[in-house]
Amino acid sequence: MVQFRFLLGSLLIAFLVACGGKPENSSQGASTAATTPEEHANPSDYDPDRGAGKFTEENVVLGESLDKAMADRGHDIQKVKCSACHRLTDEKLVGPGWAGVTERQKPYWIMNFITNPDEMIDRDPILQAQLELCLVRMPNQNLTDDEARDILEFMRENDGVK
Ligand code: HEC
Repeated sequence: MVQFRFLLGSLLIAFLVACGGKPENSSQGASTAATTPEEHANPSDYDPDRGAGKFTEENVVLGESLDKAMADRGHDIQKVKCSACHRLTDEKLVGPGWAGVTERQKPYWIMNFITNPDEMIDRDPILQAQLELCLVRMPNQNLTDDEARDILEFMRENDGVK
């Protein structure tokens, strides 16, 4: 019984830590959790750097500096469609906090995920590890391509791009 409580406690800590979205913590959390998903993801045609969807290194072009108008539109969409589950810090709410997300993931991975979450959650080892820890599947928010691009710009602003 004592051992059982200890196990529960450890699981809870792993849950809190790994869902927090901090790079150093999430890599620790993901290293154990990611072994199982990798076994059933199909490695031959899934690129974990890019994800699955229409966006690629070629068609997601970032400016050197921030496009403020785009970022402001992205912020407005974030308030309506994302803020119920995501904080802008590294704190977990329902999903991981957004701080540092543009450093953790490629811009085209982010664009693919937020426009095509269902397929990516089924196939992406990092998302599967997050799902195991967050226990909620991110719902499709029906973003247009332009809305997704605006949100990406807002995430860049949130990560300090000026
Ligand atoms: C109902 C809650 C919910 C809403 C609303 C939601 N998300 Fe998520 N999001 C999650 C969860 C949970 C995860 C972790 C992956 C999973 O379990 O599906 C996640 C993961 C993410 C990630 C990956 C984060 C990382 O650190 O790797 C991004 C990016 C993201 N969401 C963007 C968005 C955007 C953009 C919106 C709004 C358009 C949004 N989310 C709305 C729950 C939500």
